[in-house]
Parts: sequence; C-alpha cells; structure tokens
Amino acid sequence: MQTHEICRRFLAYFEQRGHTPVPGASLVMDDPNLLFINAGMVQFVPYFLGQRTPPYSRATSIQKCVRTGDIENVGITTRHNTFFQMAGNFSFGDYFKREAIDFAWHLLTGSVDDGGFGFDPERIWVTVYLDDDEAIGYWKEVAGLPDERIQRRDMEDNYWSMGIPGPCGPSSEIYFDRGPEYGREGGPIADEDRYIEIWNLVFMQNERGEGTGKADFPIIGPLPHKNIDTGLGVERVAFLLQGVDNVYETDLVRPVIETAEQLTGRRYGVNHEDDVRFRVIADHARTAVMLIADGVTPGNDGRGYVLRRLLRRIVRSARLLGAQQPTMGALVETVIGTMAPSYPELETDRARIIDVAVAEETAFSVTLASGSKLFESAAADVLAAGKKTLGGDRAFELHDTYGFPIDLTLEMADEAGLTVDEAGFRTLMAEQRARAKADAQARKHAHTDLSAYKEMVDEHPTLFTGFEELETEATVLAVLSNGVRVPVANAGDAVEVILDRSPLYAESGGQVADIGTITASGTSVTVSDVQKIAKVLWVHRGTVDSGTLAEGDTVLVRVDPQWRNGAEQGHSGTHLVHAALRQILGPGAVQAGSLNRPGYLRFDFSYHGPLSDSQKTDIEAVTNEAMVADFPVNTFETDLDSAKAMGAMALFGENYGDRVRVVEIGGPFSMELCGGTHVGHSSQVGPVTLLGESSVASGVRRVEAYVGLDSYKHLAKERALLAGLASSLKVPTDQVPGRVEQLVERLKVAERALEESRARAALESAGTLVTGAREVGPISVVAQEVPGVAAGDLRTLALDVRTRLGSRPAVVALFGNADGKAPFVVAVNDGGRDAGVQAGALVKEVAPVVGGRGGGKPDLAQGAGSDPSGIAAAIDAVIDAVGRVGVPG
Ligand code: SER
Repeated sequence: MQTHEICRRFLAYFEQRGHTPVPGASLVMDDPNLLFINAGMVQFVPYFLGQRTPPYSRATSIQKCVRTGDIENVGITTRHNTFFQMAGNFSFGDYFKREAIDFAWHLLTGSVDDGGFGFDPERIWVTVYLDDDEAIGYWKEVAGLPDERIQRRDMEDNYWSMGIPGPCGPSSEIYFDRGPEYGREGGPIADEDRYIEIWNLVFMQNERGEGTGKADFPIIGPLPHKNIDTGLGVERVAFLLQGVDNVYETDLVRPVIETAEQLTGRRYGVNHEDDVRFRVIADHARTAVMLIADGVTPGNDGRGYVLRRLLRRIVRSARLLGAQQPTMGALVETVIGTMAPSYPELETDRARIIDVAVAEETAFSVTLASGSKLFESAAADVLAAGKKTLGGDRAFELHDTYGFPIDLTLEMADEAGLTVDEAGFRTLMAEQRARAKADAQARKHAHTDLSAYKEMVDEHPTLFTGFEELETEATVLAVLSNGVRVPVANAGDAVEVILDRSPLYAESGGQVADIGTITASGTSVTVSDVQKIAKVLWVHRGTVDSGTLAEGDTVLVRVDPQWRNGAEQGHSGTHLVHAALRQILGPGAVQAGSLNRPGYLRFDFSYHGPLSDSQKTDIEAVTNEAMVADFPVNTFETDLDSAKAMGAMALFGENYGDRVRVVEIGGPFSMELCGGTHVGHSSQVGPVTLLGESSVASGVRRVEAYVGLDSYKHLAKERALLAGLASSLKVPTDQVPGRVEQLVERLKVAERALEESRARAALESAGTLVTGAREVGPISVVAQEVPGVAAGDLRTLALDVRTRLGSRPAVVALFGNADGKAPFVVAVNDGGRDAGVQAGALVKEVAPVVGGRGGGKPDLAQGAGSDPSGIAAAIDAVIDAVGRVGVPG
C-alpha cells in the first residue's frame, strides 16, 4: 500500500466516524520553546489546555513532524526518520479510552477491502502505563488480546508529553511483530526492532510543568477535560505494508537512495557501512527540503543549525560514498518529485528550495577544503613532535570554526595514523553546550508567565478597533501588577491592562506595537507596549501616571497618531520594497522576516548572494516609483484559497485561519496576506532610501531603509556632508568626485617621490657611516641606526658600506626604524668571517633585543623586530658579540 493511500484511508476512516479533517500545521510554529512540530497534537494544545474552545470535538490530521533527537540512529536502525508524517485522531473532551482503542484496533486489523490496513491481529502487541488496568480491560474486551500480548511499562515509555510544559498523559502503544527472523521473542519490552511501534494512543488528562527528560517533571494538575491524542507513524506502517525492511525503502524515500546511487556510482545493499550512508542521505534530504519549504534557512543556532547539520551530513555522506561532484541539486529534485503530490508548495517553491540547499553545499565544500588544510597542518605538528594524538582543542577548533563533524576528524586522523583526544574534545563541547543552555534558559525566563491570562483568552478576546479609529471607549477587564491580578492600581504602578476593546496595535507581523494612553477622569496611563497572548488577547503594558485604574472602569484609549503614522509608513514601505525586490530579483526573493517602526524598515529575504550596485539602485527606483504612483492601499478579507489564487504572498511558518486579510497596493504590484495597519495611499510612505544590504545567514539577505521624514532627514544630512566637502575643496558639488580622485592621485605621486628621496639620502649616507666605523679588536664595525630606511634599502646600504670598508675584516649592522618596526641587516666580509663572525649567528643573538626574529647566511643575514626602543641596546650587543669573537687568541 502506497504511503499516500495510507494517509487517505486514515483520514477517510476517521471522517466517517465524526472527525473533522484539519490540515497539518507548518513545521515551524510561533513558539520559541519548540524547535519544530514534533507531533500531530501540537496545533491543538490550546484546546487540550482549555485556553480556547475547539470548533469541533473530534478532529483528524496528517501532520508533518521533525525530530532530530535520534539523528545518530538514522540509517542504523530500521525505524528512525528525522522527518515523518503522523496520522492522528483527536478527541477534545468527547470520547476517551474505550473508543480510542476500538477505533485503532478496527482500522489496523480491518480488511483492506473494507478500508482497513489488514494487519494480522495475532501479531499485534500493546503496552500500557503501569497501573492502567482500565486500558488493559478494553484491550481484552474490544480486541480480545490475551494477557501475554499486553505489557506494562513505566513513565519513560508509556507517559507522553511534548518534552516541554503542556498537556500530557499515560499512553498505550501498539506494536507489530515482524517475526522471529528479526529478533528476540518477548514483546516490545524485549526487542523494539522486531516489535515495531506503529501507533501511540495518549489519554491526555494532565498538565505538566518544567523539567527534563521523559519522566522528570511535575504534574501541575488535571486538564479541564479528558482528551484523546493519537499518533500513527505513517512511514512505519508504510514499510510494514510494503514488505520492505525499513523506513528508508518505502515508495517515498527509496527513490532518493536511487538518485544517490547514480550520483556516487556505488550500489545500495552491498555493504552495511555504505547502506547507512545512503539512508542518511535519503532521510536528511527529505527533512531538509521540508524545513526549507517551511522557511528555515541554514544558520548557526536553533532551527537554522539543525538544517545546516542535516545538509552537511548529506554532503559528507555523499563524499564518503565517492561523490566527486556536487549532489545536492539532484537529491533535492528527487525529494520534491516524491513529496510534491502531498505538499504542492514544494513544486511552486522549487527554485528557492534548491537554491538554499545548493548554497549550503557549496559553502560547506569550501569549508571542507579549508578545514582539511587545518587538519593536515595540525596532524603534521603532532607527527613532527613525535606524538600520536591530536589534541581535543584542535578537534574542537575544527568543529567550531569549520563545522567539521567529529566523526570526520576521527576518520581523517585514522587515515593519518593518529588518534584523537576525544575526551578533551567532549569536555570542550560540554562547556560550549552549557553556555548555550544557560543562554536559552535566560531567554525562556524572559517570557511572561501566561497562566494569569488563561481564562480571559477564551472568554474575552480583545476586539481590535484600530483599523477604523484611533480612539475607543473601552472597559477595563483586568489590571495586573507584577504578573498578579489586582483590583486597583495606583499612580506610579507599572501595570498590564486587559480591555474589552482597543485601538492600539499589538506587535505582530514585523510591525511595532502602538504607543498611546488610557485615560478616565483624573486617571492617566501611558501605554508603551502592547503584546498579544494566544493571538487574541491584547496586553497593554504601561505606567499609571496619575489617579487609579480599577477593574470595571470605563476608559478612553488613544493611539499616538504620529507614532502610528510612522509605523504605517514603515509597514507599507516594506510591502513596496518586497514587491520591488521580487520584480528585480525574481520570485525566489521571499520574505524571511521584517521590522517596521516609525521612519525605518528592515526586510530579510531569501537570496543566494550579495546584490549588485545596479540591483540596489533598481530596487530603490522601483520602490519610489510605486510610492509616487500614489496607488490606493486596499484591504479586504477573503478565504485562504481565494487569496492564494489571486497571487497574494503568504509568509512561511504562519498558520493562517480560514479567513485571511489581504493588503493590496497597486493591483498586481503588491498583494500580501497581512494583519498590519497601512497608509491610505502609497505616496504617504514618503521617499524610501535604501541604506544598505547585508547577509544575515547563509542564503538570507537584509535590506534596511528609511521612509518618510526620516528618509528626507537622512538625505539632507548627506547633502550637507557633500556641501561641506565641496566648500573645503573649493569646487562646486558636482566636481567633488573628480577633485577627490585628482587629490588621491597627487598624494600617491608625492608619497612615492618622498620615499625615493629618503632612500637616496640614506644610500648617500654610506660614506658617513663608514667614517663612523669602530675598531673592535682587528675588526671594523659599523653598527648604527638609520631611521626611515625600508628593509630592502637597508640591505643595499649595508652591502654598500661593507664594500667601502675594503678588505679589512668588517662587520656592518644597520637598524631601520619606521612605523614602530625595527628591520635590521648584518653583513660580514671575508675577513670578518675569518675572524669568526657569522652574520646569521649574530642576527639570531641580537634579534630578541629588538623583540624580533631573524636569520640568514654567514655573510648576510636579516631580521625584524617590533620594538625600536631596543635598537641602542642591540647596537651594544653587536659590539659586544664582535668583541668576544674578535679577541685574538
Ligand atoms: N502525541 C503522541 C505522540 O507523538 C501521540 O500523537 O506519540
């Protein structure tokens, strides 16, 4: 049975049983604590917690999931995918254990002709949480399972949570026995490779708090209702029903292995080591494509790092399989081909997905090359020192600076006949992880404790009036001080205020929050920030300036109109820039993030390299032309499909509801799904000045711009700057560039002439230097400082002086002194050498005195130091040294 058919049957089965089919959510949710969606229930969390009332009491979905905790097992076991699809049925306070078990059993064992999966009931085993006798009872009653195929397991195995605070509960897992040829007898507790887990039924009934691992966290209390959350591993069912050996050989993954075979020239199924590499490539390529499609780009932390790691493991595995050429493009194409029937956005976004993946491959190939050089030099140092172990610090440097996986370092070390201090490496890694964890912890605690708002989210979502008006009369529903609800707040208190309605815009979609005031007779509160909780509740943060504020008060809420106007200029300006970018760079320039505040906008987008000057000029021109065109800005609501059909751009990672808001500027010029506030006509944005363009992560660029009056102020400042320059240069402004170029040229010529004349003067000083020769025993010594002479000229001068000293034994030591450096040259003639002076040895002796190093031959040697203050002492040292060797006898 094809994977697609498994999903179809699952949804149809539950739809027939009263479940509403709900589309799966994006892999990236707006929750900083959750890296990626890791289960079908994630999008339903507010329903389980009772924060929101579900629009249905039964739901079913196919959810894309990413879990990378077991990445090391990929390709080694039969069943670990980093990307997989979870089919689930959910009950929100409706049915519970008995029905969940009944539904699962009959779908699994129902005949294929009747819409089931046709699993042999005799080969099904289940596990239950320790004391869950109730579940055991149903398994016997509904499925007729004998005692020996029901096993009890503890919290580690049979208690489910998302790994972070939220809903949780005991579970019952369903396993399929692949038969004695795949492992030991004894059920799931004995061998999870023979008994494959296919479905997890969670009896969701509690809420958990902070903690670690699968069992170490407190249970805060019961949920308002008893719920059901189940997850069937689509890939696992597929591999069992398709009669293949593992999740990497199913209809959706095997084609990627085949592409890898063609690219590398090796065959799958010949040896275990290569097979693991093929499976890693196939698994990771699929995950990478799905992540990029949901807007993740490779980076150095968080989600971006996971993606980077996956892509790098692909490049490395392909290399180990013998690939000489890039492989990423072809692998990604194959994944898109297999997955697009279920995820059509892969097809429409094909070019961008390929670009992002290939850019990382290209970058990592360079990394591999430079890292390999570093490795070779480190290995050479170790061998030269007569040792056999590469230090942990070097392995860590390779990892940290070059992104070298440790196994790559281990392998290369092995090839070079070395071992690696892995313990040292792991200590350094652990230290780094501890630092990262402390950071993450600090970030987490910066989040507000949301429990105080829970009931209001459901009962009193805020009515936003700010699209229509800037002043609204409202009722105070709650006042919080220090996160605790208080009946009344007094002057001087920092407060959070919940109102039944508000014209103040809450920060979202890149647009900053409005600022404004809440007033009543005798009372005034300044609002400095507004944030949304659970997308529906506005929390107004501010300070009571005078009077008191109490629950139930009627108040007047006002937006600061100038601030709002500035934010709108920024936001509409962002839409114009986005449209211009796509016009100039093509549809691959997709939004990756933005910030709009009064006078300024920042816009991140996917693009593979820096923009050229002409692209930047064009983008700015198209933006300003659209501004001057005075397009009306229209907003309207429609359903998601119609909006997409009109060509409206939607943001990755957003989960839109059924009704969406479209903001259109100039018809087809710009159309985006957007919940922000905007100016009425494009000309109200005012001039847009691009400030620059930079890289924020691999494949992601950033443009920044001023809008409105700030744009004018910026230009005025630049004009004043230019006027200042023109007046100093005494030319009209349009002649400034020519004048500057001329001056630079003249400066260069003058510097060259000065250099030459200095050198000439120095060379001419040879005669004077000779007259300054001192007799040290039988040897004539010229040891002097000659400031301002460059190293090359110093050598010419020293040789000249040596020649002038004739055939008597002579030593010349000249020290330059320029720019904080002390270059020096020592020249010794035949007589000097016969008397025992070696230039090379002398240089080595005096170099440390000027803080440097040097060396050379017996007749001529040179060096350089970084401490010219030591020159006098160095000259003494030369005389001294010559005195020692030059003393007859
Ligand atoms: N949430 C449970 C799991 O992920 C069942 O869907 O296993």
